[in-house]
Amino acid sequence: MPPLLNKRRQQKLPFEDWLKQSLHGPMITATLYQEGITYAEQNFLDESANHLRVDKQLLKEKFNLNKNKVLDFGCGMGGMSLWYASNWDCQVYGVDIDRHHVKIANDLKNRHQVKNVTFEVRNVLERPFEEKFDFIVLNDVAEHIQLPILEKIFKALGQSLAYGGSIYVSYPPWRSPYASHVQHVTGIPWCQFLPQGMLMRMIEKNNRPIVGEEESDLVAAYKGLNHLTHKKLMKSIQGSGLVPVYRKSHSFINKLPGLKNLNLRIFPFDFLVTKEFVLLKKENEAYNAGFI
Ligand SMILES: C[S@@+](CC[C@H](N)C(=O)[O-])C[C@H]1O[C@@H](n2cnc3c(N)ncnc32)[C@H](O)[C@@H]1O
Repeated sequence: MPPLLNKRRQQKLPFEDWLKQSLHGPMITATLYQEGITYAEQNFLDESANHLRVDKQLLKEKFNLNKNKVLDFGCGMGGMSLWYASNWDCQVYGVDIDRHHVKIANDLKNRHQVKNVTFEVRNVLERPFEEKFDFIVLNDVAEHIQLPILEKIFKALGQSLAYGGSIYVSYPPWRSPYASHVQHVTGIPWCQFLPQGMLMRMIEKNNRPIVGEEESDLVAAYKGLNHLTHKKLMKSIQGSGLVPVYRKSHSFINKLPGLKNLNLRIFPFDFLVTKEFVLLKKENEAYNAGFI
């Protein structure tokens, strides 16, 4: 079957909608569009938005992005790109492969008149950057990319780093209670460790469309995960010339007085880690700067 017709069948689009989409580009239903705008706007404006609170705190604490050229790789619907652009005097480039996400990001940028951010649909493996960036962020992105592709992406991103630049990766490690990305519908933290047949039936029962064009429902979102761990991440940067210079494993425990900096990395306590934060630099620069 021709690929476009096959895609129509997978997306279960009525013929008329499929034709419009093929002729005019990405099409999102009004409900999903509104859902995307509301979600991304909250990520942009709400400092206490639950799943990004720790990310925002850590970024503010550790980095000064003034005068930086920032690449938000896998920017999604742009909430965080707009947040970087509004918190620092920097130039932000948000790129993503998903046309639905980038459409929402651009609409939000226009709605809030944020000038120092640009969004683009781009596959960096097909169209690498010519410019260099001081700070490249992959926020909740690396766990969505199949590992052989992630390896190639890190090589490409390493080549797009300006002198002294860094790549910042944040993701929920596979043992995290939220790593399945579907616990909100199953109601069960760590549900990724249930027998897969049982879990798939639970997801299918509660399945619903989501904003993405690439991952357009919860089943696809779950199946797209690469079960990322720190070990797998380290394997995927091999050959890129990048090395880790900082790692924080954030868990609930860090909220307790005096335990802010505790990293729970030993089994079984590592199941309590909700998010990993890793900073990468070029190996020679990390060496010269005394990181390794
Ligand atoms: C969970 S979203 C995170 C979005 C955003 N970084 C945030 O924090 O809100 C993951 C994003 O990664 C994007 N993505 C996946 N593979 C990609 C690739 N190869 N190149 C660029 N973006 C990619 C997806 O389209 C999706 O928008």
